[in-house]
Amino acid sequence: MQVAPSILSADFGILNDEIKAICEGGCDLVHVDVMDGHFVPNLTIGPVVVNAVAKIATKPLDIHLMVENNTFFVDLFAPLKPKYISFHIEEEKHPHRLIQKIRDYGIKPAIVLNPHSRPEDIEYLLEDLDMVLLMSVNPGFGGQKFIESVVPKAKKLKELINKHNPTCLIEVDGGVNDKNIGELKVAEVDVVVAGSYVYGADDYGQAIKSLQI
Ligand code: DX5
Ligand code: ZN
Repeated sequence: MQVAPSILSADFGILNDEIKAICEGGCDLVHVDVMDGHFVPNLTIGPVVVNAVAKIATKPLDIHLMVENNTFFVDLFAPLKPKYISFHIEEEKHPHRLIQKIRDYGIKPAIVLNPHSRPEDIEYLLEDLDMVLLMSVNPGFGGQKFIESVVPKAKKLKELINKHNPTCLIEVDGGVNDKNIGELKVAEVDVVVAGSYVYGADDYGQAIKSLQI
């Protein structure tokens, strides 16, 4: 299981130290939540801060867009060369075109499904994706309760992935901790995002390891 700590739960007053700590603590990816105050009722960070994050991080970036104008933000962040850029299917009229655009930048494209969205809705996009991110909370904030229905949804998604593109990864984001990591592993999830669980721990490295099962 790969672990991508979300810096949304970091102390932004000491962001430099907070990013170094998760990278030295053995995380696999650095998860960056970009919110525009329109798609979700919260506003986070733009290119100035994400640029600083990219310079400090020694692990690849996993940029999660929670925005209305995906194309604009893809163009904005592509020069930072993240490993993944993920966008919400609920907010994209031309997902296939955007996938191609991300790939043309040399970045791995991923689609995000909100808790109410169905894996079947993206069945015909799976062959073009490197990852699908399943939200296990309603996007917008860290520290929310894990929505259990993501587990059967991950199993359903895995069936579709096996049919169309077995190398596509499944990522789960929201409320992940040492209590639910076992069922996510059973559901064959590949990557988990964890914000408050990692940054709320005394030892970030130990918290990361407890999820890398
Ligand atoms: C929520 C974000 C998540 C969030 C995870 O909209 O996409 O990445 O920061 O935080 P926790 O792990 O605290 O739910
Ligand atoms: Zn996220």
